[in-house]
Amino acid sequence: MSRRTLSLDDALYDYVVRLGVREHAAQLALRAATSSHPQAGMQISPEQGQLMGLLVRLIGARRCLEIGVFTGYSALCVALALPTDGYLLACDVSDEFTRVGKPHWQAAGVAQKIDLRLAPAIDTLDAQLAEGAAGSFDFAFIDADKTGYEAYYERVLQLLHPGALLAIDNVLWGGSVAHPALDADTLALQQLNAKLHEDARIDLALLPIGDGLTLARKR
Ligand SMILES: C[S@@+](CC[C@H](N)C(=O)[O-])C[C@H]1O[C@@H](n2cnc3c(N)ncnc32)[C@H](O)[C@@H]1O
Repeated sequence: MSRRTLSLDDALYDYVVRLGVREHAAQLALRAATSSHPQAGMQISPEQGQLMGLLVRLIGARRCLEIGVFTGYSALCVALALPTDGYLLACDVSDEFTRVGKPHWQAAGVAQKIDLRLAPAIDTLDAQLAEGAAGSFDFAFIDADKTGYEAYYERVLQLLHPGALLAIDNVLWGGSVAHPALDADTLALQQLNAKLHEDARIDLALLPIGDGLTLARKR
């Protein structure tokens, strides 16, 4: 019965969210505000947010990095799990998307932990490296443009300290990674998944949660 991961029908998925997820009122409100957005599918799922929050607490993270904020739900999950003086450097290019989240970050009392940088993430990461931030982050989450993932991965690995945790979203890309790639995003994810599998710089687990979440511990 348990030699492989269950596939979830709607009833079982609802059960997982109902009994496996505890959300702050601001998380519920932000998910509700995002649900009518034309690109609502970009938001991570609540059970993934719950897992990420737990991981952030488990490793005692204080300095976190997020690449791809959208309306701010994943940033809220991480920020709620950080201590009062915790810090989340949040990278996105869209004021339109990220402004949806700000009132909810305020309502949750975590806005002061989130340092939102509106610029191409590669520029923000390179600036961090140039400022001497290598080895200073405890946790990072990559969830932006898929063709940029490999470049983000290489920079993020430098910004994390040994033992720190990286989470990478959408690594199963709706299941398309298991078939010949028909577009640049699928190809980029396939190449990254293959690279990580062979990468001796990390410990690795690929979880079939949400759209696929890779966890990598920097060695
Ligand atoms: C999948 S969404 C992020 C979802 C978010 N983590 C959540 O759970 O709600 C991807 C985000 O990446 C941003 N993005 C796309 N290209 C980017 C780039 N070059 N630099 C920074 N952010 C980028 C988009 O504006 C979008 O908000």
